[in-house]
Amino acid sequence: MTIENNKNERIVSSDEDSEEVAFENNLRPKKLADYIGQNKVKNNLKIFMQAAQKRGEPIEHVLLHGCPGLGKTTLAHIIANEMGGNIKVTTGPTIERAGDLAAILTNLADGDILFIDEMHRLNKVIEEVLYPAMEDFALDIIIGKGPSARTLRLDLPKFTLIGATTRMGMISSPLRDRFGSSYKLDFYENKDIEEIIRRNAKILNTELDDLACSQIAKRARKTPRVANRLLKRVRDFAEVKADGKINDKVAKEALNMLEVDELGLDDVDRKILSTLIEKFSGGPVGLNTLAAATSEEMETIEDIYEPFLIQLGFLNRTPRGRTATKHCYQHLGFTPRPENNLDKNQNSLI
Ligand code: ADE
Repeated sequence: MTIENNKNERIVSSDEDSEEVAFENNLRPKKLADYIGQNKVKNNLKIFMQAAQKRGEPIEHVLLHGCPGLGKTTLAHIIANEMGGNIKVTTGPTIERAGDLAAILTNLADGDILFIDEMHRLNKVIEEVLYPAMEDFALDIIIGKGPSARTLRLDLPKFTLIGATTRMGMISSPLRDRFGSSYKLDFYENKDIEEIIRRNAKILNTELDDLACSQIAKRARKTPRVANRLLKRVRDFAEVKADGKINDKVAKEALNMLEVDELGLDDVDRKILSTLIEKFSGGPVGLNTLAAATSEEMETIEDIYEPFLIQLGFLNRTPRGRTATKHCYQHLGFTPRPENNLDKNQNSLI
């Protein structure tokens, strides 16, 4: 059985839906000082913003990258708030024509933030329009066609572009070069996830003890969005099945009911890993074959499931394909293959 809520979504997915956007907005820290974890990024951003404020200028364009749910959007809102500008939020694939981008850019004011999520899905024509906008705060409009066509240059307000992507490798180098700085968000440490859960339980007025907090954190895939979703579901469970207070027993019962195991794996993760072990002897197997065998999209496996499985040390991406590690065999209750089949460099069975 796949772990689903009533909207057919995985409980541990790092993608968000519209109801969740509202829930997350409510919990989102507004100041950098309240943003937990990612200390290197925070320290760099603080200096970057303070220097711009001292000069009385907007900050240079910022590129944020990392897996879904790690807080890229939250950081963009914090930057806008700390710099005192408005934020306009859009995504790469929704900007279809040059005119869409022109409308967005001409409606900005000095010091505003334009946040473009999924920057790697921006089409190439739009990207070309963005270059002079980022570099010179100018919009080049072509008037007419053929030999009589001419370019008209419109001045734009001094805005800051914050781009976010889960696929840094798909951002072209001319685009990457136009950002003043770029930051990678990593998976969170367990103690930071616990702190985020404690902070958010307080905002939601929910009583939560330390053991329960660590139970939820352990299964949150080192990802704040997953932690918030689990907290919400455990809170619902506590309100219906207990007195609304979340203790260790209530948390364990709720999490077991959601079928998220103690490492945060759900049925889809287990299906991918057990297919790799049972059908392909632990690999190596190509991504397309693994996707076909599990009825999942290649891109979904690559972007959503694999990063955490790699981080856990359960799966490796090798030049010859995906392989399952000894830890993966053990966690799923399979007997690891003999040591002489273990590729020492990759900790993988080949
Ligand atoms: N919500 C999402 N990410 C967060 C973070 N890093 N700190 C606090 N709350 C968050």
